[in-house]
Amino acid sequence: MNTLQVELGARSYPIKIGQGLLGQAELVAPHIKGQQVLIVTNETVAPLYLEKTLPAFADFQTASVILPDGEEYKNLEVLNHIFDRLLQQRFNRQTTLVALGGGVVGDMAGFAAACYQRGVPFIQIPTTLLAQVDSSVGGKTGVNHALGKNMIGAFHQPNCVVIDTNTLQTLDDRQLKAGSAEVIKYGLINDKEFFSWLETRATDLLARDPQALSFAIARSCQNKATIVAEDERESGRRALLNLGHTFGHAIETAQGYKLCLHGEAIAIGMCLAAQFSARLGWITEMDVTRIIALLEKTGLPTQMPTGLTADNMLKLMQVDKKVRDGKIRLVLLKSIGEAIVTDQYDFSLLRQMLLDAQQS
Ligand SMILES: NC(=O)c1ccc[n+]([C@@H]2O[C@H](COP(=O)([O-])OP(=O)(O)OC[C@H]3O[C@@H](n4cnc5c(N)ncnc54)[C@H](O)[C@@H]3O)[C@@H](O)[C@H]2O)c1
Ligand SMILES: [Zn+2]
Repeated sequence: MNTLQVELGARSYPIKIGQGLLGQAELVAPHIKGQQVLIVTNETVAPLYLEKTLPAFADFQTASVILPDGEEYKNLEVLNHIFDRLLQQRFNRQTTLVALGGGVVGDMAGFAAACYQRGVPFIQIPTTLLAQVDSSVGGKTGVNHALGKNMIGAFHQPNCVVIDTNTLQTLDDRQLKAGSAEVIKYGLINDKEFFSWLETRATDLLARDPQALSFAIARSCQNKATIVAEDERESGRRALLNLGHTFGHAIETAQGYKLCLHGEAIAIGMCLAAQFSARLGWITEMDVTRIIALLEKTGLPTQMPTGLTADNMLKLMQVDKKVRDGKIRLVLLKSIGEAIVTDQYDFSLLRQMLLDAQQS
């Protein structure tokens, strides 16, 4: 087992990465204060992993709530199922919530934990690659609104993150590839060595080679933990983690969260960010080619979805949380391995790039 630490003073917590960790009580018990535990999962993950997870909480009064599966259920109405269960069970302020599932379950359970009785502790047990490398670490929680993704939420750090890499064996290929988009993101924004490693090992990752998986997960978590420790509340550097996300979220919103998976939308978004960075003269066309090649090798989409226009994209991008004074701040690349956040660019160039990327 590999243990990393997210250094946030009193809110510091460990990330435990290994095979077969799900039912291990000693990993979670030290992070539970009261007697009550509510496991939040969904209808896909519950039959696969709920039984295997329960022994970890055998010493506590444990209940579970099973949410419908899908990004389209990441909303306030479904969030209420968690509060219903907590209140039906008369769970108190010492309750610990456990998120067992992908990023949707993690974001919802985390947000419920942030709100229930003004805040209770929670533990992340992520079961998708995306959740293991990204969403379970860093304390961003929340739900979507019909008018914008992740628009209602809170910062609430987990008390620990337990990553059982065996759970990835049941994940379908499309989800594995989608999660890889966030892995590639770390290479692009902060870690050029890791980007090169991915260029040679992407195939092993997709083949679920345990060594490749655990290396990529640990390296991604380390990158994220470092950035979060520097800037927990995203007043600066943490925004770099949103490479491709302003474009990607616009794509997800335009599609009503139904067609592209999050990671797929982010892959397209990273291509657009790379292409725009090249237009500004910051990276070379060769860099763009390398980025697109790695995304394609990983089986990710790289082109704007058909039917989505440049102006529609721009309108949706205005809803992004990074917009300040009507200016869309973008994460762009200075090189492979170095990103910056900026609104210092010519808007007409951005629009032209999107017009050129638009598919008829
Ligand atoms: N909080 C953050 O910092 C952060 C960061 C990135 C993404 N996110 C959010 O995460 C969400 C995407 O997460 P995701 O990609 O994990 O999607 P997801 O939670 O929808 O999971 C993908 C699918 O895989 C299923 N699944 C989960 N684990 C499985 C397993 N082990 N075996 C088989 N099937 C399994 C799920 O039921 C679902 O059908 C988005 O809502 C995104 O906004 C949050
Ligand atoms: Zn993301």
